[in-house]
Amino acid sequence: DLAQASLQAILQTHQNQPGALLPILHDVQDALGFIPDWAVADIAKALNQSRAEVHGVITFYHHFRTTPPAQHTLQICQAEACQARGSRELTAHAEQVLGCSLHGQSADQRIGLEPVYCLGLCSTGPNIQLNDKMVSRVDAAKLDRLLASVKE
Ligand code: FES
Repeated sequence: DLAQASLQAILQTHQNQPGALLPILHDVQDALGFIPDWAVADIAKALNQSRAEVHGVITFYHHFRTTPPAQHTLQICQAEACQARGSRELTAHAEQVLGCSLHGQSADQRIGLEPVYCLGLCSTGPNIQLNDKMVSRVDAAKLDRLLASVKE
């Protein structure tokens, strides 16, 4: 299928390239949105490594995901200025409402919750980014409204 074909193309591009594992993982995630189990097997084989070795690298980097991404992404700024303005409390609220921790996703897989470290609007925090929209001065009530407004 299509996913399989794009994996083969990626493996071919990086053939014989030393240190190819990380670039391959990045390309696979860009192409498929995550790194599926079946791809781990093929990548390991192509690089003459064990699945466990490839899996170890994937789990070492928070950037890589092994399950499909949520439909929407909520990022909450965790950097200092936003923390001083209540982003920890806001994060705790989001975790409670969504039923997951940072780097996780809501049970219905609609919203992924991610940390972000400074959105460049430090004086008006706490700041969030919901999909590609940045919002400042977010409190729990405002966050609830924003989440309710997210389309399917
Ligand atoms: Fe949050 Fe800069 S610290 S936007």
